[in-house]
Amino acid sequence: MKALLLAGGLGTRLRPLTDDLPKPMVPIMGKPLLERIILNLKKSGVDEVVISTHYKSDYIENYFKGKSKELGVKIHYVTEETPLGTGGAIKNAEKFFDDTFLILNSDIVSDIDYADLVKYHKRRRAQVTIASIEVRDTSQYGVIEFDSKGFITAFKEKPKPGESNSKYINAGVYVFEPEVLKEIPANTQVSVERETYPLLLSKGYKMAIYKFTGYWMDIGTVDKYKKVHEDILKGKSRFVAGLSTRGIILGENVKIHPTASVIGPAYIGDNTEVDAYATVGPYTVIGSNCRIGQESKVSNSVLWDNIKVRRFARLENSVVTSECVVEVNMEIKNTVFTANKLADITLTP
Ligand code: GDD
Ligand code: MG
Repeated sequence: MKALLLAGGLGTRLRPLTDDLPKPMVPIMGKPLLERIILNLKKSGVDEVVISTHYKSDYIENYFKGKSKELGVKIHYVTEETPLGTGGAIKNAEKFFDDTFLILNSDIVSDIDYADLVKYHKRRRAQVTIASIEVRDTSQYGVIEFDSKGFITAFKEKPKPGESNSKYINAGVYVFEPEVLKEIPANTQVSVERETYPLLLSKGYKMAIYKFTGYWMDIGTVDKYKKVHEDILKGKSRFVAGLSTRGIILGENVKIHPTASVIGPAYIGDNTEVDAYATVGPYTVIGSNCRIGQESKVSNSVLWDNIKVRRFARLENSVVTSECVVEVNMEIKNTVFTANKLADITLTP
């Protein structure tokens, strides 16, 4: 089975985390989100993926170069010079698909069972099936209205207040029959949500809704990006395989000084060192090759790779991107530290 991964968005709302890398490549517990998505797809029987890119496309191709074998999944790339929108990106990858296939937004952390979704799609004999979850505030999403038989009757992207009573939103995971691709114009900017879905409905295509209730979060903002880590550490999501414990997860060759304390839940990546009297945790994720200095304190934070936290520094409820040096005594609270600068952003405590 094949899947198309939509990964060309600008990631504007996730800035400054997306200053140097595209949104699908932000690390989730030490590994790019896109890689974790591919690993999960593989478990559901997907053996070939097409990654549709635009913003920082080289970053994605360079990362996955030579990784295909290790992942056990064949990877193709389709790159847009100018962004084609979600519908245009799907049309642009048409040549890869001649059978039922999956389409995924690449900024979603979820426990959705792709194999079950596809099974449902086939049972309903739908031409498109959209995975959906129920939320309280639908304003940032695509809203789905459906009939008593589970077929979609209307699709409203980012509705204004009062425009729809439905609380079921587009979870950014679709199953398509290739025949519907003929309805999308080629080489044209098209939004699948704003244009294609309403068009398909008006033409009488069978579109089914697949409701699911498990963990789902889109990492569209830094607050949500941080929250995802907290949720994974709390055991609320199965997105990261092999994390059965809610305690302390250590990578390979992690060195923790006997006088340092690590308070779970916490994750510390490969080759990271925690020096004397330092405190790490709770709800903290530290990437690979980091050095957490003497008597420093890191709590409720997500640190990427190759970071130095110098002596007596304090980090709380913050995100630090790769290669940063947090100087001696520095205090970082409720914000993002990137390119060795404090970002103009306040995270919800
Ligand atoms: N190739 C390509 N080209 N990909 C794109 C483009 C483009 O021009 N524009 C967006 N994408 C990719 C993004 O990288 C992302 O993975 C996905 O398409 C969705 O774009 P977002 O920018 O994240 O959209 P959104 O979050 O505002 O809304 C979408 O997701 C919601 C769920 O999180 C919509 O699909 C909503 O209906 C949905 O509820
Ligand atoms: Mg999104």
